[in-house]
Amino acid sequence: MTKAKHILLIIGGGIAAYKSSELIRLIKKSGMTVRCVLTASGAQFVTPMTLAALSENEVHTTLWSLKDETEMGHIQLSREADLVVVCPATANLLAKMAGGIADDLATTLLLATDTQVLAVPAMNVRMWDHPATQRNIEQLRADGLVVMPPDEGDMACGEFGPGRLPEPPAVMAEILRHLGGPNKSSALIGENELGRNPLEGQPAFAPDQHRPLHGKHVLITAGPTREPIDPVRYIANRSSGRQGFAIAAAAAEAGAQVTLVAGPVHLPTPAGVMRVDVETALEMEAAVLDALPSDIAIMVAAVADWRADSRAEQKIKKQKSDALAPLAPLALVENPDILAGLAKHEQRPGLLIGFAAETEKIEEHARAKLAKKGCDWIVANDVSGDVMGGAENSVHIVTAGGTEIWERLPKPEVARRLVAKIIEEI
Ligand code: C5P
Repeated sequence: MTKAKHILLIIGGGIAAYKSSELIRLIKKSGMTVRCVLTASGAQFVTPMTLAALSENEVHTTLWSLKDETEMGHIQLSREADLVVVCPATANLLAKMAGGIADDLATTLLLATDTQVLAVPAMNVRMWDHPATQRNIEQLRADGLVVMPPDEGDMACGEFGPGRLPEPPAVMAEILRHLGGPNKSSALIGENELGRNPLEGQPAFAPDQHRPLHGKHVLITAGPTREPIDPVRYIANRSSGRQGFAIAAAAAEAGAQVTLVAGPVHLPTPAGVMRVDVETALEMEAAVLDALPSDIAIMVAAVADWRADSRAEQKIKKQKSDALAPLAPLALVENPDILAGLAKHEQRPGLLIGFAAETEKIEEHARAKLAKKGCDWIVANDVSGDVMGGAENSVHIVTAGGTEIWERLPKPEVARRLVAKIIEEI
């Protein structure tokens, strides 16, 4: 039998620290082992006793423990892990990590480790938005750490926005992704010892009656892509990911196994959905191909058409005379068209649906896109108003058989109707 994967979980301070208990439970349930390091501020929110009981391992809180130094050097703590997870990662902890400060056990381990680190931030929305935090995150990503985007929503402090800790199942999916767990294809889901079957625990309804997409793998892309120019700048767009996430939720409700390949967005993962976070179009393409085979694919993402030819290692400096001068030599290359590639792929999904953002001649443009991309349906959004990033959508569904027009509807309603139409079709 292969050795169980091992996680070192560093728990920072903050109200979200209580969610670490649920994360430990999920890690253990997946067959991995976990050892916890609790920072001094983390210990204000959860106790070492709780973490020790759940992890079934000793909890480490201080750099100055003689016992640890004789039995296991603190450096060894991080070296024995297959993945180091910092959850919750506070603004303070991220700042120390970005600055290479090592003034307690957690930060010393993080500086000493050569293992991949996954940071899961949680903080007040203004702290998240602060240029210092954003700068630190860019730095950590440039250093090779993975920083999950926080969820958006009501916060314990009474404010609203990005900064909430992602739900433990989403963190678990990210852990599995880094340890080569499943979520590659429906065939793998449920078979891997590290795996989590998104249908696990769902009642065994008669598939045709209550869960019409039972047994189908639905692959969805959502959100924007982010194409780096240098460590602090990127090309992106205003897509919020809401429509794609709503479709993923509706497909999962209908019983499908759903893989959601998401660009950088601040949205919680819908229940029962396997999420794969990506940043760039190339990463999105790789994740989509990795997720094949699928029965149905719905490409909702607003993929950047272009990316910088090469990413500058250092921040491109402004020149005094002309602020745009340093960006002038910026060469762009075309990104692959993921949808068109899927249409020609030998494992082409049985039903392939594309989206199109149009501001005029919606049906005409959508029909041309249907032919050009080789997909079965185009869902054309009228983006002349505030659709991009907004809560509602007004769409034309263009197929070989004709066109349906759905006047302005909330995005979850568009999602439900689209899934109902898919169910009719298959
Ligand atoms: O060509 P356009 O960007 O308007 O096409 C939109 C559709 O194509 C969407 O379904 C989008 O997800 C998909 N697309 C893609 N890869 C690209 C560009 C668009 O999959 N590089």
